[in-house]
This record gives sequence, C-alpha cells and structure tokens, in this order.
Amino acid sequence: MKFFVDTADVAAIRDLHATGLVDGVTTNPSLVGKSGRDFREVIVEICEVTDGPVSAEVIATDEAGMLEQGRALAALAPNVVVKLPLTLDGLKACRKLTSEGTRTNVTLCFSANQALLAAKAGASYISPFIGRLDDINIDGMELIQDIRTIYDNYGFETEVLAASIRSANHVKECALIGADVVTAPPDVIRSLAGHVLTDKGLKAFLADAEKAGIKV
Ligand code: E4P
Repeated sequence: MKFFVDTADVAAIRDLHATGLVDGVTTNPSLVGKSGRDFREVIVEICEVTDGPVSAEVIATDEAGMLEQGRALAALAPNVVVKLPLTLDGLKACRKLTSEGTRTNVTLCFSANQALLAAKAGASYISPFIGRLDDINIDGMELIQDIRTIYDNYGFETEVLAASIRSANHVKECALIGADVVTAPPDVIRSLAGHVLTDKGLKAFLADAEKAGIKV
C-alpha cells in the first residue's frame, strides 16, 4: 500500500519524505490556500522534494478551462498528477489529458457509480472521500470496499486513492480492504508509528539498561 501525504506544507512534506515511508503528495485548493503561498510555486517546490506523484488541482469547472489549467500544471514537473473534480466536464477533461499521457486524479468521489465513470474515463487515481461521508453518517469505508470490488470485477487499472482520512483506524481499514493508496494528513501518518505500550516498554528497557550499567 502506498502512502501519500495530504498537505501543501512543504516543511512537513520534507520531514516525512526523509523517513522514506511516503510515496507521494496530494494537495487541494483549500490546503494550498492555507499555506498563503503562490499556487504554482508551492507545487514546483513539492515536486523538488519528492519524485513521487504530486496531485495539483484545477479550479476551472468547464472542460476547456480544466484542460488549459491541467496542461499548465502538468508542465510544471514530470511528477505532477492533474486533479480534476468528479463532474461530467471533469471526466471529459480526464479522458483527454489521459490520452495526452498526463496522469490524473479524479477527486470529490462520493459514490461507486462516480468511481466507475472515472475508471472508464481512464483516471490514474480515484479519490473517494471517507471522512466527509462519515461526517454525514454514511459509511465511507463501505464506499472503498464497493469501489475495490467493482474495479477488480472489470480489471480497471485506476488506483483507489482513499482520501479524507481522519484517523489511524481509517488507514488500517483501507489496508484490510486493499485500497492502493491512502492520502492522510502529516499527523495521521506520524501517529501510525505510535503505541502506548511501545513508549512504556522502551522506557522500562532504558531504565533497566541504566540500572545494569549496560553499554552497547
Ligand atoms: C484528497 O485529495 C483531499 O485533499 C483530502 O483528503 C480531503 O480531506 P478532508 O475531507 O479532510 O478535507
């Protein structure tokens, strides 16, 4: 399973990239807006930190505008993945960009049928949003399972990129289902390494080592 970090915070990306555990980055207009920085400048900087896929999202809503913005974003670096909203225009733009050899991430997916269309449009990644479904009392994980089943039924190569991840438990559930990728905020990725018994055990080992005068 691949891990993408879901942020436009370049320092956090650099920090996690150094662990060797992160395979790519996803951003969205809200995350880049929070950084207060120039959009293209941030994407270029992220692409300098990692050569893994970096999703950069268009803000046009019509096909022509999405194509223009998508081509400009793809020209920024070879590892840019153009992120498009799951609308009919977004799907049309997806098909065209895919035929031009540009990788695409179709985002804001909230149903299995939307995911089916994205796969037919040739998307490299589909981003179903788990947390936002959970927020309205719909089981986001069920959507991941449905998409996995449908893609496997037909041999679609579109990768299931589980998004809107809010907890370590979301990551575990996605791994059990077989999502290809999870994209999660830096804190969630860091939290995967933590366990209260690891901390407690380490503290005891170090205390015993000191008591016994152990030198390594
Ligand atoms: C994914 O690509 C999105 O940027 C992200 O996962 C959305 O997460 P949120 O619902 O926590 O904003």
